[in-house]
Amino acid sequence: MKEILKLIASNANINPIKEDLIRETEIVLSQKNGNIPKWERSLESIKQFGTGQVRYTDPYIHIDNSTTQDSIDSFLELRPWRKGPYQVGNISIDSEWDGSLKWKRLESIFHLIRDKEVLDIGSGNGYFSFLLSLFGAKHVLAIEPFLLFNYQFHAINSLIEEPLNITMAPLRLEQLSNQKEFDFIFSMGVLYHQKNHLSHLSKIKNLLKPDGYFLLETLIVDGKNELIVPKDRYAKMRNVFNIPSIDVIEKWLAKTGFKNIELIDVNQTKPIEQRKTLWIGDQTESLEDFLDKYDSNKTIEGYPAPKRAMFLCN
Ligand SMILES: C[S@@+](CC[C@H](N)C(=O)[O-])C[C@H]1O[C@@H](n2cnc3c(N)ncnc32)[C@H](O)[C@@H]1O
Repeated sequence: MKEILKLIASNANINPIKEDLIRETEIVLSQKNGNIPKWERSLESIKQFGTGQVRYTDPYIHIDNSTTQDSIDSFLELRPWRKGPYQVGNISIDSEWDGSLKWKRLESIFHLIRDKEVLDIGSGNGYFSFLLSLFGAKHVLAIEPFLLFNYQFHAINSLIEEPLNITMAPLRLEQLSNQKEFDFIFSMGVLYHQKNHLSHLSKIKNLLKPDGYFLLETLIVDGKNELIVPKDRYAKMRNVFNIPSIDVIEKWLAKTGFKNIELIDVNQTKPIEQRKTLWIGDQTESLEDFLDKYDSNKTIEGYPAPKRAMFLCN
């Protein structure tokens, strides 16, 4: 808890919006969450394991400290680890998602990240924020409303000898003030969770510097002029509000004022990328439970199976 505010307060890179971030974060942290004492205890014990150098050893964000298998429970208490994977000393945190596969799909834009002020919206525990920083971003502001993922980030971050230039705040995009602060904004896996997709895109437009870049990754459906608005659940998720075809997303982006819209990847999610591991817990489901048992091209509700596209624009 203290850690979350301390990191924001100590970061000079976010000076123009620091006051806003602190105020909004204090409001979030004042709300009751019965899990906080447990997460605080894990964070405190993890902080004792000592620091190490961080690097990317495909597929892991790898910290070469001296953590041994004896300490695995402290990390398991912060389950579910959806995003990763991380290697901490001798412990491999094999998260549900192998994020390295998505990272490789971004290869064509790596050179655009260097020295940029980056915003990572819906960062989860910061796997991509760590990579953006390791690949040369000047500073990354990661925002993630789900508190557990903030604790996971702080647990990993506390083990890095010279912490990277990343600030994480437990906020939603809507809570940021409208200042044109960012050279590069990432919204990956977030748009389909928004009831109002156009206001998500307009808010991003408002935060982007005039020549800045925007990378959008979201669920899509094949065809032209298609838009699925799931009635109830999609792949067992309650909070999926829109799955458009590629041309519809391009229209949404153009309508919001984005230019030079380029489709850089289309990919159907496979079990090699999203699967059950020890790190999400025994009772938790993953992709194989979300798809039709007899036809992996369909979700269990009969919709097309998850396929994602990436767009770069400015
Ligand atoms: C599917 S995960 C994607 C995580 C990561 N960006 C990735 O690509 O793997 C979506 C995340 O966005 C967060 N989220 C949803 N709505 C958001 C909003 N309005 N502002 C910021 N984060 C949001 C959720 O809490 C969740 O952790």
